[in-house]
Amino acid sequence: MAKEKVISKPSINEARLRQKLMPIRDFDLFTSKTIEEFAKGKKFYIRTYGCQANMRDEEIVAGILQKAGFTKTDKAIDADFIMLNTCAVRENAEDKVLGELGTLKALKASNKDLIIAVSGCMSQQEHIIDMLLLKYPQVDLILGTHNIHKIVELIDIHLRDNCRVIDVKARPLEIVEKLPSIRNSKHKAFVNISYGCDKFCTYCIVPYTRGQERSRPQEEILNECRELVNSGYQEITLLGQNVNSYGKDLKSDITFAKLLESVANLGIPRLRFLTSHPFDFSDSIIEVMRRHDNIMKYFHLPVQSGNDQILKAMGRRYTREKYLEIVSKLRTQIPEIAISTDIIVGFPNETESQFADTVTLVKEARYESAFTFIYSPRPGTPAARLVDNVDKKEKSARFKVLTQALEETIAASSKAMVNKTYTVLVDGWSKKDKQVLSGYSESNKLIHFKGDESLIGKIVRVRVLESHVYSLMGELVND
Ligand code: SAH
Ligand code: SF4
Ligand code: F3S
Repeated sequence: MAKEKVISKPSINEARLRQKLMPIRDFDLFTSKTIEEFAKGKKFYIRTYGCQANMRDEEIVAGILQKAGFTKTDKAIDADFIMLNTCAVRENAEDKVLGELGTLKALKASNKDLIIAVSGCMSQQEHIIDMLLLKYPQVDLILGTHNIHKIVELIDIHLRDNCRVIDVKARPLEIVEKLPSIRNSKHKAFVNISYGCDKFCTYCIVPYTRGQERSRPQEEILNECRELVNSGYQEITLLGQNVNSYGKDLKSDITFAKLLESVANLGIPRLRFLTSHPFDFSDSIIEVMRRHDNIMKYFHLPVQSGNDQILKAMGRRYTREKYLEIVSKLRTQIPEIAISTDIIVGFPNETESQFADTVTLVKEARYESAFTFIYSPRPGTPAARLVDNVDKKEKSARFKVLTQALEETIAASSKAMVNKTYTVLVDGWSKKDKQVLSGYSESNKLIHFKGDESLIGKIVRVRVLESHVYSLMGELVND
């Protein structure tokens, strides 16, 4: 299929722009005779990479496709429509997708009618579109993060014009509400509270791929949460790249703390939120967490680095001291709190002693869990323009040192849980052992224990018997 129809293409210069007002409208399903006929008996498969925002997008696309008459499948080989919902946060995330596209090429050779689509954050970059068009002829459809709700219309254009279709909006134009979805879990749900990010950390591609920060209206969020409570969901995680700044773009006096309290009041058994940027942290969040037992005492607070010069170069807008002040406040005012973080090793020109500051910070903060990454230059970001004097080998060595330091504090926190009883929301069978159930404690620690299938989706009490660095073994407590 040589022909291509370019409806719109991304532009990093336009993606930088921010506008004041963001119109809100309700979703309406696109229908046509072509789609009605085509969808009959057709199956779709979506593979998602990256963060929870992308996972939620997958659920929405699945809901829309189901409404249009398609059926969901968990096997790529059975699918007539395959969508790779991509992530661009680091180079290795992009490499995985390109590898998968290679595998799909073979699938397409055996099924000429297979439609392959690429969506998500990779699509929001000009150089990726150019590469896909040039080197990946197996891709039929490219859409971005701002128009996933247009999926059916784009399939329709592809079918009618028999060509490759590219429609990637450079920036968001509206907030779409009342979106259908098929949720991936029957007991745990993600609810977006805001989209995009305005922080522009110098290493990060997200403010360009997800666009300007925009908060959903409180009523829409509460309605979605209320529905989840009514249908028996046990846990809600409120999602935003920076939940702490929720409401700052709205015309009301709503804040994240107020929203959190309103959701907690709906009576969901477990409430979580992700991610908190230290700059927008406010003490009122701690007060709300203390007032509500159903808000899990877990706080993900990315630090990125423990050195002030690096934090400045990253554009993080806080100092090591300020960050540790928040950690200390959380620990004193919520004694059972578990704190996790994200750390980047090897930011351009990071010195040995600047890195050492990150290691000492990790020891001071005593994290219960952490995600660590080696810096990956992202085209178009300010940090990617810096000439870097630290080689890859050195970065890997530092990464190992940091991982070791983290494992010590994480293992210590897991060990302290032995012989104590915790409530666990049971997710399902453990990946390794089909007789063992697993789930997460309130503090987000993974706990395995023996039990029967009827417990899946329920909150149970488990006594911890044994601790490993990243998981715990326990036994069911029958009261
Ligand atoms: N909004 C969230 C998530 C951003 S992406 C937040 O601010 O925490 C998740 C993590 O990926 C970031 O916290 C950061 O640690 C990491 N990350 C982002 N860009 C990166 C890059 N260019 N190289 C390596 N890690 C990166
Ligand atoms: Fe990226 Fe920073 Fe925004 Fe997080 S806060 S998404 S790291 S720019
Ligand atoms: Fe990746 Fe986009 Fe999320 S870059 S981490 S999928 S916002």
